[in-house]
Amino acid sequence: MSRILVAGGAGYAGSHACLHLAEAGHEPVVFDNFSTGWREAVQFGPMIEGDLANPEDLAAAFAQVRPDGVMHFAARSLVAESMEMPEVYWRANVTGTLNLMEAAVKAGVGAVVFSSSAAVYGETSLALIGEDAPVVPSNPYGSSKLAAEALIRDVCRRYGIACGVFRYFNIAGADEQARIGEWHRPETHLIPLVVQVALGQRQEICVYGADYPTPDGTCVRDYLHVTDLAQAHVIGMDRLLAGKGDFTLNLGSGRGWSVREVIDHVRQVTGHPVPERLNGRRAGDPARLVCDGARACGVLDWQPQHAELARMIADAWRWAQTSGFSR
Ligand SMILES: NC(=O)c1ccc[n+]([C@@H]2O[C@H](COP(=O)([O-])OP(=O)(O)OC[C@H]3O[C@@H](n4cnc5c(N)ncnc54)[C@H](O)[C@@H]3O)[C@@H](O)[C@H]2O)c1
Repeated sequence: MSRILVAGGAGYAGSHACLHLAEAGHEPVVFDNFSTGWREAVQFGPMIEGDLANPEDLAAAFAQVRPDGVMHFAARSLVAESMEMPEVYWRANVTGTLNLMEAAVKAGVGAVVFSSSAAVYGETSLALIGEDAPVVPSNPYGSSKLAAEALIRDVCRRYGIACGVFRYFNIAGADEQARIGEWHRPETHLIPLVVQVALGQRQEICVYGADYPTPDGTCVRDYLHVTDLAQAHVIGMDRLLAGKGDFTLNLGSGRGWSVREVIDHVRQVTGHPVPERLNGRRAGDPARLVCDGARACGVLDWQPQHAELARMIADAWRWAQTSGFSR
């Protein structure tokens, strides 16, 4: 059993990682400032309230927890906001990560797993995006993630800390028992937005552009079930703590779904109408972003188990209907 400090463990991805760490016999300890996370999502281990911006909070947390490893999910992650406030994103995502790494070094942590993003690749026209694709972020969110990756690798190399970087595409779905799920504030992700329309909480879903060079003209994205993502994190952390080598891996399903396909799946799964409104393209939305996930499957000896879009939507729907987070 290992004790893992989970920075951002009250958020969407982090809370599912805590669930699967606990199920694997590890002890997750959440470190979170609840800026976008939820106290109700902390169900699988203790919690320490603190902010990556405050080195004292981190020093106290590491002294109390003495973790074997760190998972780092805490970030600001709204692309449009990052265009408006780049300096805020660099401070939160880079300086915050530097503070975390300095505390991890002082505490003698053995391994760090970092949540990076496909945003590091920018606007590519590649049919499938592998880890060797050029990294050319097209917004400050992506730049700050790329810089945080580099700083984590440098610090880990110097101090002998095992280091794993995961670049996610889009995460979707929820715990199948609906104990936790996706609830961002504000919500910007397509599947929860469409589910909210099906629930009658929103009037319509906006489709931004239907003239892309894709089969139905709408943008195509890769979705990975959050349970698969969480399990990859547990395997990755175990691998690092066992000294099996550092990694930088894409996490995705390797399958693209268009905006229209997502909306149609929500109609089918929920049986509810989903009115849509067609708007013009949004600046900076590439036509297609699909992950080449082969390397992660090989390195981790892992396969997504819930790769069907209908399954992700069914779990998101169950969660949206039954969840009790303070809304
Ligand atoms: N959701 C996605 O589809 C997606 C895709 C690619 C990458 N990512 C990355 O995965 C990570 C998790 O994403 P998510 O969707 O779970 O986000 P989230 O907003 O649900 O979770 C982030 C958590 O970090 C906490 N946090 C933020 N700043 C903090 C700080 N300064 N100190 C302490 N805690 C802080 C928040 O309160 C929240 O609990 C992020 O780093 C994000 O960039 C997410």
